[in-house]
Amino acid sequence: MTAKIISGKEIAAAILEELKAEVSVLKLKHNVEPGLVTILVGDDPASVSYVTAKQRTARDLGFHSVQDIRPADTSEETLLKTIGDYNSDPAIHGILVQLPLPKHINENRVLYAVNPDKDVDGFHPVNVGRLMIGDARFYPCTPYGIREMLVRTGVPIEGAEVVVVGRSNLVGKPIAMMLVQKQKAANATVTICHTRTKNLKEHTLRADILIVAAGTRNAVTADMVREGAVVIDVGVNRIGTTPEGKAILRGDVDFDAVKEKASAITPVPGGVGPMTITMLMMNTVRAAKFAAGIALE
Ligand code: GUN
Repeated sequence: MTAKIISGKEIAAAILEELKAEVSVLKLKHNVEPGLVTILVGDDPASVSYVTAKQRTARDLGFHSVQDIRPADTSEETLLKTIGDYNSDPAIHGILVQLPLPKHINENRVLYAVNPDKDVDGFHPVNVGRLMIGDARFYPCTPYGIREMLVRTGVPIEGAEVVVVGRSNLVGKPIAMMLVQKQKAANATVTICHTRTKNLKEHTLRADILIVAAGTRNAVTADMVREGAVVIDVGVNRIGTTPEGKAILRGDVDFDAVKEKASAITPVPGGVGPMTITMLMMNTVRAAKFAAGIALE
């Protein structure tokens, strides 16, 4: 079997078109302009490129968008004060603090300082807790993008054996929690595997849907995948640079071999990555609607 390639790029483009139309209606009918601030401390090249892409997308959609870049030696106190200012700024509906933060700043203290109603990353403990009990306001963007790709590709989730490789707070734990809920686009049987899992292959071979967020190149090879499984590769590994100096990216899955066994697979790049940014925009529109008292579906 040769897998269907699930293009996150195409699905993201379709969602962005829908969002653009929604933003026009919000502006015209409700006088609401979704506002997003991205806060970056330091100049880590990968982080700079991520926040630039987020801001570009926000502007393309017609958001009020603010890029707040601070030097790497910014104190935690200053950062907390900045977040407090955005918390009380009515033009800002979504606050995103790009991670990782410099070592001298306590990441949890910063994430806890964001008003949960503006936490478009879904990282505040209030939002993590709401997700856990099946009453989410915001889903973290990468897991949200994964679920949306599955839904829009028509992959059955209800009753499926889902195996997640990786237990991070950003991806592994939240996607597992989302797909196990007694809700639509969920009701799966979920296994979470990690670095201490005994006989990983025994688990991955059971998966109808295999979600790989291990952070390791070739963490999943063809012998670990059941014939006909749907494989979602969340990994982003830099394996070199082009002669023009552009990073060459590959996922955590041995794509060339696994695509001959899977029924569907996401590529890297062009898979989960574009979906993450898109779902941030979706969350920001949601936050703006919530702030304006417009009914959420
Ligand atoms: N760094 C890597 N991924 C993310 C993300 O989804 N949100 C934030 N805030 N920082 C990140």
